[in-house]
Amino acid sequence: MNKIRGIDGLLGFIDACPTPFHVVDRVAAVLRSSGFTEMDEANDWPDAEGSRFVRRGGSLVAWRHQTCDAGFRIIGAHTDSPNLRITAQPDTGQAGYRQLGVEVYGGVLLNSWLDRDLGVAGRLATPAGTRLFRIDQPVLRVPQLAIHLDREIRKEGLLLNPQTHIVPVWGLGLRTPGEFASIAAEAAGVEADEVLAWDAMLHDLTPSTVAGIDGDFIHAPRIDNQVSCWAGLQALIDAPADSPPSAVLCLFDHEEVGSTSAQGAASTLLPTVLERIAGSRGALHPALARSLCVSADGAHATHPNYPDRHEPDHHIAMGDGPVIKRNANQRYATDAVGEAAFAAACEKAGVGHQLYVHRGDLPCGSTIGPFAASAIGVTTVDVGVAQLSMHSAREMCGAQDPLDFALALGAFLSVAT
Ligand code: CO
Repeated sequence: MNKIRGIDGLLGFIDACPTPFHVVDRVAAVLRSSGFTEMDEANDWPDAEGSRFVRRGGSLVAWRHQTCDAGFRIIGAHTDSPNLRITAQPDTGQAGYRQLGVEVYGGVLLNSWLDRDLGVAGRLATPAGTRLFRIDQPVLRVPQLAIHLDREIRKEGLLLNPQTHIVPVWGLGLRTPGEFASIAAEAAGVEADEVLAWDAMLHDLTPSTVAGIDGDFIHAPRIDNQVSCWAGLQALIDAPADSPPSAVLCLFDHEEVGSTSAQGAASTLLPTVLERIAGSRGALHPALARSLCVSADGAHATHPNYPDRHEPDHHIAMGDGPVIKRNANQRYATDAVGEAAFAAACEKAGVGHQLYVHRGDLPCGSTIGPFAASAIGVTTVDVGVAQLSMHSAREMCGAQDPLDFALALGAFLSVAT
């Protein structure tokens, strides 16, 4: 059940994780079966060394700890992906259709959600705690307007209003207040009147797959950034339990909306967990000075149809190994020391690496890297797997690159400062 190795393991991981909460649940299951013990932030933690993890909402930190003498090697990634999220009072409708109200979460390519078979998943708050739920049937669809009713599309392109044009339909008839809550409750195995609130979102039902005439590609939802979560998890569980430095995996929610939340990369989660692992502030600070951090997130492969959108001397190819991302304005945290450390890890792992710089006349995206770096003051390098269609409901990357990325992250866990 917890098989995660190889491409099949990656495809199964993505399909098992329609939401950040499912990512954390799945990662926790894999960690438990690999000998990790869950800690509760509300309780004291044992001082002894060990392999442990802690969860905070859609975020998770896991570690293998012996001693602080060699510092930490930290792998960070994010559990969330841009999508459509169910509103607080979602039961709506128009023109004889029952519909669900949605909000846009993060930088969504809205067109990619049109005319797809969509399920819904998330977590419910109940008096007994939170409960995960998922509905993997095609219960929802955002129908695109017919071209005969959208004559402007030929010269203006597709224009979508996020309030009015992307409201999914899920049935015929009149709006039925309470319907979403009762259907989610049934999927979660609780009574409708136990549902107090929810964090719920839509997901595309097309299974992840190996693709291309030679099997060169992976087509899947949420490649940004579940590929990094998967690769980091594999690196951690393969890390030797008895040799320093301490290996840490941190998976954060809310990267796609700026990382500033109770459990995002800009929160207290990582600093407080590292302090508790170290045992005291006195032990933490020298350990941080001997530490390195890698921020693992999707990278832009050069698009064959839009080569002009890329920096001409930093082309990125699928199949050519992990991408190290540099940005002079610190949208990526990488500096020369971090770049050299990750390049050394790639060499140790026997995989190539590539260097990415964003075009100077386009605004650059960001990652958890600058947030983690500023929260803990540790040299950080932004790296990732080359992909196309970033922030589409269905993205693509190379079939070999995630495997190479897991090896490189594994080697990073023992690279020297
Ligand atoms: Co990302």
